Amino acid sequence: MHNGPARPRRTIDFPGLRIPPARYALPNPSQSLHLGEDTPDRLDEHFAGRLPLAALTAAEVEFLRDHFLQQLDVVRERSIAYFERHAPRRYATAAPDDRATTWAEHVTSAPHDAPSLLLLGPTGTGKTHFAYGALRAVAESGAQVTWKSFTSPDLFAHLRPVHGRDDEQALRDVAAVDLLVIDDLGAAKLSEWTEEVTFRIVNYRYEHCLPGIFTSNVPPKELASTVGGRVASRLTEMCQRITLKGDDLRKGARP
Ligand SMILES: Nc1ncnc2c1ncn2[C@@H]1O[C@H](COP(=O)(O)OP(=O)(O)OP(=O)(O)O)[C@@H](O)[C@H]1O
Ligand SMILES: [Mg+2]
Repeated sequence: MHNGPARPRRTIDFPGLRIPPARYALPNPSQSLHLGEDTPDRLDEHFAGRLPLAALTAAEVEFLRDHFLQQLDVVRERSIAYFERHAPRRYATAAPDDRATTWAEHVTSAPHDAPSLLLLGPTGTGKTHFAYGALRAVAESGAQVTWKSFTSPDLFAHLRPVHGRDDEQALRDVAAVDLLVIDDLGAAKLSEWTEEVTFRIVNYRYEHCLPGIFTSNVPPKELASTVGGRVASRLTEMCQRITLKGDDLRKGARP
């Protein structure tokens, strides 16, 4: 089969321009004409990967940066609005601590290289707060990272077979999202079906190197018997483990 000539790949040197990776629209050539007659061609060469950023003039680099920063502002506003619409009210103002901020930076700059997080600790130590703080940090970066967040019982309710729905697609939509939070792993009653669903989601993310946050108040030694050995094994490899300690913060709250 003949596919015709391959379309040139458009590349953007995100680190060089000091902007987070996103699906930006390229500038319209006419907008850069004031920089020089051959600027549109040079930018084209750059996006085709044949002319590095370092070979562009300072004015051309500045032009590109301005162009993408304008879009970044729009994307960032959209991401924050999405976060505020979808985060539960209690956690909508959760501020990320240094660990959550560092992790969010890793996720936005190199999503396939960032580890997932496994937040462990007894009830009320701030695991869900941490997870939403990290999601806020990702949203505020302006990077186009789509996310979904479920407690594990809600996840199973969401994925229960529904007559007339493409259940495989529903599972794929969860498994393949850029960033997935599964809160309270091990909180739902275990059955063959829940174990299978958890395995398929975790395994998909493991295989495709997709970042996520998993939380549980199950002690590490009991994780395998709670979520299944195959899930626990993958979580161990793909996650950076953070254990939150201390008292139940809810006990200090007003009566
Ligand atoms: N760093 C923090 N700063 C301010 N409030 C916090 C912080 N961490 C947690 N909290 C508050 O403490 C309470 C308990 O936190 P959270 O719900 O995150 O605990 P958890 O570890 O997820 O508990 P569980 O295992 O029962 O789900 C919440 O009201 C939360 O908003
Ligand atoms: Mg919680």
